[in-house]
Amino acid sequence: MVEVSTSILSMQQGDEAETILKLEKSKTDYFHIDVMDGKFVEKNTFNKMREYSEYIKRISNLPLDVHLMVEDVETAISVFETIQPNIITFHLEACKDENEVIQTIKRIKESNIKVGIAIKPNTKIEEVYKYIPYVHMVLVMTVEPGKGGQTMITDMLEKISKLKTYIEENEYDIDIEADGGINLATAERVKKAGANILVSGTAILQAVDYKTIIYELKK
Ligand code: DX5
Ligand code: ZN
Repeated sequence: MVEVSTSILSMQQGDEAETILKLEKSKTDYFHIDVMDGKFVEKNTFNKMREYSEYIKRISNLPLDVHLMVEDVETAISVFETIQPNIITFHLEACKDENEVIQTIKRIKESNIKVGIAIKPNTKIEEVYKYIPYVHMVLVMTVEPGKGGQTMITDMLEKISKLKTYIEENEYDIDIEADGGINLATAERVKKAGANILVSGTAILQAVDYKTIIYELKK
């Protein structure tokens, strides 16, 4: 069984409480919080995602899986660490050099929060290998970051399986999260490639029955 992290990026305004409680009852494993700053990606969801996160913390005990699509990672960490997420994931491409990546990993760990590192579709998987000993998860974007409802870039499947092979050959024990365009049609191939946490937003939020689709995605 893999785990499902539901992205609340496209949650309908107005029925957030009902949606969050329904998702919890439907056994999502995490809430995936897509933080965008309007610079690293076009949209700016920073304040909305902060509000949603604070609200979820008040009404649910489920862990938060924070995905930072921001240029100023340090500021975003200092804002989102206060809601004590389970994990904070930042983009390799937001760091200017190896030293900044290492410093950012340390900064998140200092807050007793697990660390994830994310890579965009055009970033080679080999670029993340050197950080694997220090992180808890690699997030492989299976769409261009910036919005929900996109179609998966299937070339990313090979990237996921290369990462899985590398992790197994070197006997690391970290999660592989696939993020973007994941639905019942694509989930099988993503799991087969080696992802053990699936992010899904549109496919779940548009489903009539959250419980069924989350169960099917996990199976
Ligand atoms: C895109 C986000 C994804 C996205 C997933 O930048 O990182 O988490 O919201 O949503 P769907 O499942 O609709 O692609
Ligand atoms: Zn995301």
